Amino acid sequence: MDPRLENRTIVLGISGGIACYKACELVRRLTQAGAQVRVAMTASARQFVQPMTLQTLSMNPVATELFDLTQESEIGHINLARAADALVIAPATANIMAKLAHGIADDVLTTVALACTAPLVIAPAMNVQMWRHVATQTNLKTLRERGAHIVDPGAGDLACGEVGEGRLAETEQIIEAIAASLTPRSLQGVRFLITAGPTREPVDPVRYLTNRSSGKMGYALARAAQRRGAQVTLVSGPVSLAPPAGMKLIKVETAREMHDAVMGELDNSDVIIKSAAVADFAVAGASEKKLKRRETQPTIELTPNPDILAAVGKKKGQRVLVGFAAETHDLKKYAREKLREKNADLFVANDVARADAGFDVDTNQVELFFADGREESTGLLSKDQVAERVLDAVESLLPEIHRRSNEMPA
Ligand code: PMT
Repeated sequence: MDPRLENRTIVLGISGGIACYKACELVRRLTQAGAQVRVAMTASARQFVQPMTLQTLSMNPVATELFDLTQESEIGHINLARAADALVIAPATANIMAKLAHGIADDVLTTVALACTAPLVIAPAMNVQMWRHVATQTNLKTLRERGAHIVDPGAGDLACGEVGEGRLAETEQIIEAIAASLTPRSLQGVRFLITAGPTREPVDPVRYLTNRSSGKMGYALARAAQRRGAQVTLVSGPVSLAPPAGMKLIKVETAREMHDAVMGELDNSDVIIKSAAVADFAVAGASEKKLKRRETQPTIELTPNPDILAAVGKKKGQRVLVGFAAETHDLKKYAREKLREKNADLFVANDVARADAGFDVDTNQVELFFADGREESTGLLSKDQVAERVLDAVESLLPEIHRRSNEMPA
């Protein structure tokens, strides 16, 4: 289940192109996430996929005809338009985009689209020349300006044999866009600086010291903030996660590089969330050449890295500062101490000794410690859900911070 999609009604419009088969996977993923999926298909889409496949996957009747008495009484295009929490068109052909841009309603899908006031998500897929054609690009611009959420197509080998843009975006990206379209933009315009992942401290050119952070928690926070309308800068250590679209990504390796990136972005930030697992120590005098087993019996001497959170805390001003505490014991004691010492507004503590929380898993359980003395705890949640809870907490702090800032003498 995905709390962002659970119990939401997604009307999925499918228009006719070879990428139609990918709509089946999209329906499956949406229903697994807990959404009610109602499918409407164009006549061309039915040349590629049978309505029966989509009916079975969605567990709902599929709308294919506008002028069919049975369908109209059982589904009803206006009912479908009204039921939608979001209308998603995937794949969207150049033809359907042209119709949407010009308000043409000549089949069940385009009629639902014209009658629907829910957020519109469009995932185009077509031949590269059709995509680049000025008519398509003009229609795209019109739809964007009207507020449609466009999930840009990927580039690569296309089914038509050509190479270029036009491939339907990945299912994951389409789902993120649907979730974003359903999320209130409560952080519109707020600038977030989020750190994620581990750091690597070189021993020599081929070896390094690091930790078990996968970046999943930090990336979940970055995506969640973006969904709420925030402008996000993500400073990431080395991870194997896909770079999130639509935000500034600064890749770093060492704690020193992360420090410099964070301090360089501080003036452009209203909220800083330090979820990265930063190495407290670097290797003193790392070797420029590969250490040879035969030639040396090395001892590694460590030297302290800059404490980035503490450095930000000293320059915090009116920003909201959130730290994370990775603990294996005495979690409350250490989290409260860190909150105070680092001049943070909020600390999010997780017990990293657990197998289902902390490092490199998809779930987490956290305790929130606020500078004003409030404390909250979550149950075991997905990292996406934890990210939402952390952002709710940040939002509860923003008015207070803004109030204090307004009281500040000029
Ligand atoms: O990446 P995942 O696999 O999803 O795992 C998530 C996580 C376990 C890494 C994350 O939930 C987490 O706990 N992050 C903080 C890890 C950590 O370094 O905790 P700490 O208690 O050692 O540090 C306290 C705070 O100081 C952290 O906000 C840390 O980013 C910051 N710090 C630490 C050292 C340092 N030199 N500079 C810092 O800014």
